[in-house]
Parts: sequence; structure tokens; C-alpha cells
Amino acid sequence: MTTTRVTVQGAAPYDVVIGRHLLGELPALLGPKVRRVLVMHPASLAATGEAVREDLTAQGYEAFAVELPDAEEQKTAQVAAFCWQVLGQADFTRSDAIVSVGGGATTDLAGFVAATWLRGIKVVHVPTTLLGMVDAAVGGKTGINTAEGKNLVGAFHPPAGVLCDLASLASLDRWDLVAGLAEVVKTGFIADPRILELVEEHHADLKDWKGADASEETWAVLAELVERSVAVKARVVGEDLTEQGLREILNYGHTFGHAVELVERYQWRHGAAVAVGMVFVAELARLAGKLPDDVVARHRAILESLGLPTSYRGDRWDQLLAAMRRDKKSRGDLLRFVVLDGVARPVRLEGPDPTLLAAAYAEVSKEPPTGAPGVSVQLG
Ligand code: GLY
Repeated sequence: MTTTRVTVQGAAPYDVVIGRHLLGELPALLGPKVRRVLVMHPASLAATGEAVREDLTAQGYEAFAVELPDAEEQKTAQVAAFCWQVLGQADFTRSDAIVSVGGGATTDLAGFVAATWLRGIKVVHVPTTLLGMVDAAVGGKTGINTAEGKNLVGAFHPPAGVLCDLASLASLDRWDLVAGLAEVVKTGFIADPRILELVEEHHADLKDWKGADASEETWAVLAELVERSVAVKARVVGEDLTEQGLREILNYGHTFGHAVELVERYQWRHGAAVAVGMVFVAELARLAGKLPDDVVARHRAILESLGLPTSYRGDRWDQLLAAMRRDKKSRGDLLRFVVLDGVARPVRLEGPDPTLLAAAYAEVSKEPPTGAPGVSVQLG
């Protein structure tokens, strides 16, 4: 498999390197001045984190490691304060660096710690999940959660580089792979129709992800999906790091998706919530006279072919609406959505008529689940 490089433009351009067995690339991304490196990884990736630390030591760095709680548990002020303590005790200076090894929660936290230590030191992300590779590690948004909500404290701090080692996807749980594919499909709808064709052709092998036992063809498809998704994200955030305009298109499906995540108390995977969110905005665009029926049907067909949910319980409109109004992407009372007026043609829909919103919700509604409350789909 060849190694691909995508450059993210901006004040300090950086490379996203996609391939296999890429640790040898780290020194070039860290640059010549770095002496000390703190490897930040969650407990579940202790062996991988230690392997990266040892590799850095072998390459002449003074390398330390810090083990973090798993998943969202690590995105707290307490964990960030612990990392600052480690950096302080090891005398990290402005010319030292952090390397994150993990999924989106780890890259968010490590990016935030890097943004705040001495007002900003270098960070290189080594995402180990599909969601991390195609979304969280690229783009420079960093953050932690507070009791009031997710990602409320953070900074824009682009990394010095990103290493997407596809080999780490071999051990990814298939539902984590599929949840990451929701962001890939989003990228296809907003900017790159070839992504949609690839998923349509290979959905069965992607849905039943066999990891290390997957065929060479499936690996090649996955590599192309990562490359294409990263290329779109790189182009968008390179043009609009701080979300003044173009970057908003990356929120396709996210306003409704975030509301589902909140109403479900974060028991749904992000990708599952965004999948329903994309169908909601596709229906909204259709009802607003912007999107033809067949493109809405294509949303459902692609997402369902991967096993992603396309509907949500029908008795939560008030909570969803309240959550959407509180979404940090909203402006005042005016709800705004990214919708499509065709494949790869995102436009903004501002302040849609409440009856249109309710009608779009009706289109994605299903009966409330009869099983355990709050867990309404397999991906939840
Ligand atoms: N860290 C994810 C982003 O910047 O979009």
C-alpha cells in the first residue's frame, strides 16, 4: 500500500500522512527542534502508546507517556490539569511536543493540552479510529467537556502533522468502523460523490468489517475513502479554520445529530446520531423544495446498507427542538441548517418555518422503542 500525503493549508500548513507503519514519519512532522515528547494515550491503548514512546526513545527523543481514562472520561478539566502537571514536572518547554495516540476524544484532549501549555506547543496526532482519521484529528478544533455540555472549553490549535496508520483499523470493532463511515458518507454528500459510489459498491464488506481478515480490495477501498475524506476536510479547514463560512458545511446532519446525542444522554455513537441527522436535513431540504426525492432516498439507502439508523423515536420533538436551539452553532433564536440542493451542493437554510421542521421530524420518526429506555438502536 502506498503512502499518501494531504497538506492542510493555513498559517502553519501541515501534512496528513495516510498509509501503513508510519512511525518513521514522526520526526519529520515533529521538526528539528523538539527534544522532549509526551505520548498521550488512553488506558485501552497502553501497548500501542508504549510502542510509540519506545520508538521515539530509539529515535533520540526524551519520551514520556501519560495514560488517560478511556473515551469521553478523558475530556475533563481534571485530566487536562493532570497532563499539565506531567508537562511541568518533566520541564517541557515551548520547543517540546505532544503526540496523541487514540480516537477522537484523545486527539481533542491532547490538542487542548498542547494549545494551553505555555500558550501552545506542537502536537502530532496519531488517530487509531476511522472517526479520528477522517474527522477529529484534522482541523485544529480541540476541547474538553464541562458539566454543562460537550466541547464547551477549547481552542483552535492545528496539529503539526497527522499520521493515519491504516493498520490500526484492523482491530477496530465493526460498529466503530461503521460509525466512522457516517462521517465519510457525510463528506460524500457535501463534497465528493465518488465516496458515495464507493460505499454503494462495497457496503457489504464495509458493514461486515473483518479487520485483519478483510480482503485486499476492501482495504484498498477503505484507504481511498480515508484519503478522499481527509482531502475534503483539509480543503475546507485550510480555507476556513475558525468556522467563519465554508467550514459550516462539515456540520451537515450535525445539528439534529447533536440533539439526538444529548437527548440520548450520549449513549448513541456520534456517527449513528449524525446518520439520522443527515436524513432529517435531507427531508427538510426536500420539503423546502430544494432536494429531489431520489437524493433523499439515496441517503436512506446508503446509510441503511451500512447498518446505520435512519429514523428516531417519534415522541421527542420538544426535547430535540430545545436541544437544537441551544446548539452552539445556532445564532440566537435562529435555527440554521446545512442542507443540499443537490449532491455536493451544500447551502445554508436559515430560520426554516417550524411546520417544515416538524414535518421533517415526522419523516424520520418511528414508534418509541418498547425495549430499554434511551437505547433505541443497535448502534446506541
Ligand atoms: N478536531 C476536529 C476538527 O477540527 O474538526
